[in-house]
Amino acid sequence: KESGYAAWLHYSRNSKVEKLPAWCRVIVVHGTDEVLQSAASELQHGLTSMFGQQPKISAVPVNTPFIALGTFPEHPLVAERFSAKEQAEVSAEGYRIRGIEMPDPAYSASHGNDDIKGQYVTIAGQTSKGVLYGVFHLLRYLQGGLDGKLKPTTESVHVPILDQLSNPANSIRMINHWDNMDGSIERGYAGGSIFYDNNAFTTNMERLRDYARLLASVGIQALSINNVNVHQVETELITDKFLPDVAKVAAVFRAYGIQIYLSINYASPIQLGGLTTADPLEPAVAEWWQTKAQEVYAAVPDLGGFVVKADSENRPGPFSYGRHHADGANMLADALQPYGGRVIWRCFVYNCKQDWRDRKTDRARAAFDHFKPLDGLFRENVILQIKNGPMDFQVREPVSPLFGALESTQILLEFQIAQEYTGQQKHLCYLVPQWKEVLDFDTYAQGKGSTIKRIVSGALHSPKHTNYGIVAVSNIGADTNWTGHLLAQSNLYGYGRLAWDPDLSADEIADEWVRLTFGRQGNSDGGTDLISTLKQMLLDSWNVYESYTAPLGVGWMVSPDHHYGPDVDGYEYSMWGTYHFADCWGIGVDRTTATGTGYAGQYFSPNTDIYESTDTCPDELLLFFHHVPYTHLLHSGQTVIQHIYDTHFEGAERAAHLRDTWVSLRGQLNAAMYEQVLERLEHQAEHAKEWRDRINTYFYRKSGIADQKDRPIY
Ligand code: GCU
Repeated sequence: KESGYAAWLHYSRNSKVEKLPAWCRVIVVHGTDEVLQSAASELQHGLTSMFGQQPKISAVPVNTPFIALGTFPEHPLVAERFSAKEQAEVSAEGYRIRGIEMPDPAYSASHGNDDIKGQYVTIAGQTSKGVLYGVFHLLRYLQGGLDGKLKPTTESVHVPILDQLSNPANSIRMINHWDNMDGSIERGYAGGSIFYDNNAFTTNMERLRDYARLLASVGIQALSINNVNVHQVETELITDKFLPDVAKVAAVFRAYGIQIYLSINYASPIQLGGLTTADPLEPAVAEWWQTKAQEVYAAVPDLGGFVVKADSENRPGPFSYGRHHADGANMLADALQPYGGRVIWRCFVYNCKQDWRDRKTDRARAAFDHFKPLDGLFRENVILQIKNGPMDFQVREPVSPLFGALESTQILLEFQIAQEYTGQQKHLCYLVPQWKEVLDFDTYAQGKGSTIKRIVSGALHSPKHTNYGIVAVSNIGADTNWTGHLLAQSNLYGYGRLAWDPDLSADEIADEWVRLTFGRQGNSDGGTDLISTLKQMLLDSWNVYESYTAPLGVGWMVSPDHHYGPDVDGYEYSMWGTYHFADCWGIGVDRTTATGTGYAGQYFSPNTDIYESTDTCPDELLLFFHHVPYTHLLHSGQTVIQHIYDTHFEGAERAAHLRDTWVSLRGQLNAAMYEQVLERLEHQAEHAKEWRDRINTYFYRKSGIADQKDRPIY
């Protein structure tokens, strides 16, 4: 527990409760479905751990209060506790939890009183997955003390009369692993892969099972298990060599309602099949994939499908054959269709061999320019995966204009939980507020209220919307605490919660996570000061990180390749399309339609007009859309150059303050957890000074303009 391995599922002993409350002594579970069994055993484990006594699992109702788990169609006891209307309100993966009072025959008899009532709790869904999510809800509730009413003190404690209905907003709630089979993780900051080592699959199924539990506890139900850049060895994942291993991994996750996907190499027909081409319109290529799909689905019948990064950052794709991406995606989709498989096709397609002298090409435009013309051409089982911003997971970017522009194409929104550009899990950066801004952004695609969350859930454009949702790049690895920085667990937790319910606030999610993680651990009983202080640290952290790194939406001032630490010109003369154009007069990228690259014109009105003009462009995105002099006055009333100085000085101070706040909590935290986080916060405070001085000095030297407050710049 001290290491953080159990994360938010540590189920610490509730010392205020002597023994198992009467209502949770028996779990009645109807059906042999393995997801239902996982639900029952998780509940049994959680209750045992919190209350010090093991509940029984029974297949039949007992003569005392119990918790019933089951689906409406299969569990008569469950069905009778909800009206037909109440049942119909639950969606495929949603759940209903209800606590009711009923006569308790056994207790009444032993006390010679006919009237004694017992608490009966029912957790129900249309499917066993729904039941599993309901179980995790109840456990969260019991573990986090998430309701004020629940103050059990003795065995006679009553269950709170819960009445909960919860349906996920997004049908697909997915995580992408960028794990390579040699055990490394592309952009991994928490140790090696938990899936692979030394070009073989792990034998540590226990660790995978615990990962599946963590994911299921926040409603994740899809997982791609290898890097989108599919190298030599991983190309063979779809062959006999590895399919039996894939099947074993799939089995572990299946028990928790999670479907596995594989990233595939578009050039597989050449590399594995010995064909001379991977042209999607060449019949031999399509046939090769059909045979391949048959083989793959024979091994893993419920494989989710393929994730494809094509024609992107030197990966092969249909462009080599003069074909477009609908040709490529549809050919694969046809191969997977008989098995119910999906093709998840990434839109991260841009020219990564750009000449920095070329001021016309704008990487930000690329996804829209490539995919907007293909809207409506994709098969039913193709989903386009679109990064949240037009560039690449910078600390601040506008929302990708492709959202809303695609009206007849199913989509997934891609976030990055891994902190590639946001401190690499050495710096604290709680990303939920950033994701919330994206999800709440109004595209005006169909007038006011066309928010990103309504687009990605399918609600805006599609009546059925089963092939819609959210996906994110994983931040976990083999480190004992999963995420390297213990507090980075909040991003994994928060991502799952938000994918389930994008209406939750960053504050609510932080509150839950802090209570679940730090409530009743170590020296703490989860006192309100501890909870609110930790929560505030999380909520401030994205803004703190932004303030001492790249200013006003400009991005990319990082060291090339590994992307850690400041290097203002690190990407300035590169071929990656990542420029800030700072000179002695000013800085920023002119993306207006009037004088720039025209990117601002990819948005719907009024966003397009808001971004087009410096009068209306929000300060935090100014340099993303405009090239301005250092003396340009922001809406804040500050000049650009003074803003850079101020935010960088303040940012470094605020980073130091994060560390000091943590130190002030020392007495309330268990020692091991305290130490592991302290080390990171100390590093962050130091590194923030490096950022501050590098950025301030660069701009002082470029602009020749002094800091109004005369602070040290070098
Ligand atoms: C970023 C990241 C790469 C990754 C790519 C992608 O560019 O740095 O490592 O492969 O995104 O999303 O495909």
